[in-house]
Amino acid sequence: MTHAEEPWFKHAVLYQIYPRSFYDSNGDGIGDLQGVIEKLDYLNGRPDSLGVTAIWLSPFYPSPMADFGYDVTDHCDVHPMFGTLHDFKQLLKEAHARGIRVLIDFIPNHTSDEHAWFKESRASRDNPKRDWYIWRDAKTDGSLPNNWESVFGGPAWQYDKTTGQYYLHSFLRKQPDLNWDNPEVRKAMHEQMRFWLDLGVDGFRMDAVLYISKDPEYRDDPVEALSDFKKDQLAAQWNARSQNGPHLYEYLRGMAEVARQYPHKFIVTEAYPHPWDKVAGYVRFYENVDPRVCAPFNFEAIMADWNAAEFRHIIDNFQHALELEYMPVYCLGNHDRHRLATRLGSQAAARSAALLLLTLPGMPTLYYGDELGMIDGKILPEQVQDPYEKNLPGHGYGRDPARTPLPWNDSKHAGFTTGQPWLPINADHAHVNVAAENTDPESMLNLYRKLLAFRRQSPALEDGEYHGLETPEDVFGFRRVSEDEKLIVLVNFVNRTIELPEKFQQADPVISTHDGPLPAAITSLRPHEAVILREV
Ligand code: NOJ
Ligand code: CA
Repeated sequence: MTHAEEPWFKHAVLYQIYPRSFYDSNGDGIGDLQGVIEKLDYLNGRPDSLGVTAIWLSPFYPSPMADFGYDVTDHCDVHPMFGTLHDFKQLLKEAHARGIRVLIDFIPNHTSDEHAWFKESRASRDNPKRDWYIWRDAKTDGSLPNNWESVFGGPAWQYDKTTGQYYLHSFLRKQPDLNWDNPEVRKAMHEQMRFWLDLGVDGFRMDAVLYISKDPEYRDDPVEALSDFKKDQLAAQWNARSQNGPHLYEYLRGMAEVARQYPHKFIVTEAYPHPWDKVAGYVRFYENVDPRVCAPFNFEAIMADWNAAEFRHIIDNFQHALELEYMPVYCLGNHDRHRLATRLGSQAAARSAALLLLTLPGMPTLYYGDELGMIDGKILPEQVQDPYEKNLPGHGYGRDPARTPLPWNDSKHAGFTTGQPWLPINADHAHVNVAAENTDPESMLNLYRKLLAFRRQSPALEDGEYHGLETPEDVFGFRRVSEDEKLIVLVNFVNRTIELPEKFQQADPVISTHDGPLPAAITSLRPHEAVILREV
């Protein structure tokens, strides 16, 4: 297959848009679909665009917004706050005209408790939709059906007095879990997928997929799965029997099959694998679902410390384990994690992370605002929006800091809205904003542009093989090799200069994260410097 005949996702760079925070077109303080449309040129289609080729839109469905749209009341419509279905169709058309593919967030595991299905389900024990959700009696001693916990804190069971039973919610009380073991539910969810595929979306980011299959006997979780909120609460969840059930891959294959009925559609799943079988866990996903249309996000890099040995371990092992047709999807930021630049602790390290991400194989995924070097916003207690923080305050779980509005310029509210922004604008927006970074050739934004432009025309980066590379301590590096191009990528993970061995000095420097003209040869890496070199 020639490059041009290959499906788009083989050469894509994905950009996640959190629609509430991208651009507000009507002054209500909340970003919307018209806002995304107005700013598409920023992303692609013009010589000065960022140059990403696909977007993933976090949920814009009708929702009471208990979990900011991950609680859906209608899978086939748009929340009026974000616009209309007509706006979405326009967005799709305008994006495609600029060479931007569109993935939407799909939330298979749960709906809102205000969804019509759940209203029926809770109405009576013999309602035809009763079994669409997961209802259980209390134990004979009156205690909860089992000891499962909600990801957002507290028990995963909620008593419903109308029918005297409990329903399961792996996330918020307002997000009852669907019963995927019921074939009618699977059929209904496939229909929702088809609705969007028929409209022309290019695929989905699938939310929390591990939860769609649970322990068939609903046994208690082992004690080590129960969270002690002083420890890592997410890690606790990995033991849980509310996920990773025996039908997981079967149900995922069903969704992949729906996508396969259309040409060139792609699904990327959200699944944080068990810490003890990371690579094997990811490989099982590829093996058991359908690598032609579906891949899991690789979250190891987002969870790891900024450490060369750790990154070498993660990436070398993963690349080594992948079959040729398994496409990696690496990411370094999303709406559930602290901002990349905050986690790394410096803009210099964030620059080298950009170079690393955009030289890796597969479909690298950027989180909106990381291209500006945005850091976590400061959220005062009275400004908290995220239910995670509201339920478990003070543990650092709150996700608002990574969801603050994209600063477009240095005007009031950073040009994001003419109204009152739903989350505060970052304090550094006077210089960390699109307009300012546009005019500064050495800004983070221009580094991302340069890297994206280079990647687009580089056969080695788009298609080439990945080979591990021996490097000095605190440097992680690899080679990317295609028939006509051989590149070396080196990343200095520490804040001091590192001398490079002779072998690297023979290659031609192509891009450095550090400013100024490139030398004829690179003999050392400056603090936190990352480079692309061309082998001659
Ligand atoms: C994962 C999503 O990324 C997160 O934002 C959401 O709260 C949960 N799934 C529940 O849908
Ligand atoms: Ca708005």
